[in-house]
Amino acid sequence: MKIIIGNWKMNGTPEMVDMFTKGLNQVETSNKIVLCPPMELLGYFRNFKHALGAQNCSYSTEGAFTGETSAASLRRIGCEYVMLGHSERRKLFAETSDVILHKWKAALKEKLTPIVCVGESDKQDWINELGRQLCIFLEKDLSSTIMAYEPVWCIGTGEAPSSEQMIKSIEFIKKVVKPAGVVYGGSVNVGNYKSILTTPRLDGVLVGGASLRLEDFSEIARYA
Ligand code: PGA
Repeated sequence: MKIIIGNWKMNGTPEMVDMFTKGLNQVETSNKIVLCPPMELLGYFRNFKHALGAQNCSYSTEGAFTGETSAASLRRIGCEYVMLGHSERRKLFAETSDVILHKWKAALKEKLTPIVCVGESDKQDWINELGRQLCIFLEKDLSSTIMAYEPVWCIGTGEAPSSEQMIKSIEFIKKVVKPAGVVYGGSVNVGNYKSILTTPRLDGVLVGGASLRLEDFSEIARYA
């Protein structure tokens, strides 16, 4: 059983939700499929047979936080998962490790499964950068948290780390913070998902661009 996560980022329409609901509901697989559309589309998913996740949540439960969405609201609308600390949020919205830790706590409180994204931006210094991002989770119970290893230089670029680097990173993450699972993200597509998913100890993939194409995402979801 692999975990196959689709991250639509800020893309999609209600029509796409209908199309994906019909299409993905027909996918027979023992894999766990988690689709993370943008916030405003979550409510359009009705009778969706797979799991839904959000791409972010607030660290606070309620109050004067204009533009934010609480973990409790995500639960109410049907989410079981929430992505946290995606590199786009770290870079474009200045999310720090401290903020990510608070969001992680808020998500767990509402029994959402956090998908925490980590990954180096600097190819040379990768293990140190990864270590710094994992630091906040030392001594924390990650038994219901999924870590997504997403090297920033692989996101949307068509590049991928060597299998040696991938194996080392997965081992490193598992050893340091002992999460429930580690998935890989960064330019996963129909051409490379099979070889990526055979990486030892890898529990799944996080798919960005290719998750916007129903045929491609369905094929990856059917991986056996
Ligand atoms: P990509 O995105 O598959 O388009 O590289 C992955 C991600 O950013 O989660």
